[in-house]
Amino acid sequence: MMKVDILTLFPDMYNGVFSESIIKRAIDNQKVEINIHNFRNYSKDIHHKVDDTPYGGGNGMVLTCQPIFDCIASLRNEKSKVILLTPDGKVYKQSLAYDLAKEEHLILICGHYEGFDERIRSICDLEISIGDYVLTGGELASMVIVDSIVRLLPGVIEEGSHLNDSFNDNLLDYPTYTKPRIYQGMEVPEVLLSGDHKKIAEYRYEESLQRTKERRPDLLNK
Ligand code: ADE
Repeated sequence: MMKVDILTLFPDMYNGVFSESIIKRAIDNQKVEINIHNFRNYSKDIHHKVDDTPYGGGNGMVLTCQPIFDCIASLRNEKSKVILLTPDGKVYKQSLAYDLAKEEHLILICGHYEGFDERIRSICDLEISIGDYVLTGGELASMVIVDSIVRLLPGVIEEGSHLNDSFNDNLLDYPTYTKPRIYQGMEVPEVLLSGDHKKIAEYRYEESLQRTKERRPDLLNK
């Protein structure tokens, strides 16, 4: 079973996201264990402080090393992969989700406020950004990453059903239809009703290719 530990100052943000739908089922079926840790509890400061003003001056507060270092030390073992969520990390994509789904133990650190002490990077194996925009903290990013990984774990969704996802083979997904056959004058493509599986596979591949050319030509150059 994969284990995920998340370090955050806002544990309540995770209520809901991990207690519904596929993630909830994965937890209930023991495909994944997810633990939320408030690293404020590791602060040795008498007021449980976790941040301080930046050396050299500037705006805002900076997360200090001690609570995060100590929390990580108490959780990590030889097999842990420690990941920092930060807008200057490696930009997240599906291929990285597949790689991370093979890990036994992920530890995700959510930054917050104006930033974190640079030395926190030294205890991380990987830094991830979920896109070129700035969030108020790493929490939403950690939820995105956990969601995208958990659905890839064996036995979580129907075997093989993620093989057709967008981004596999650097292609977007092909269009899908369900009943009724005609809705407000819009018809389901004839080939999908033909029962000819070879033809259907060809049609879907062509549609994927066409859609990717139109919407994400950058993917095809990879
Ligand atoms: N924290 C703030 N912005 C972020 C982003 N885009 N990705 C990951 N963590 C973040």
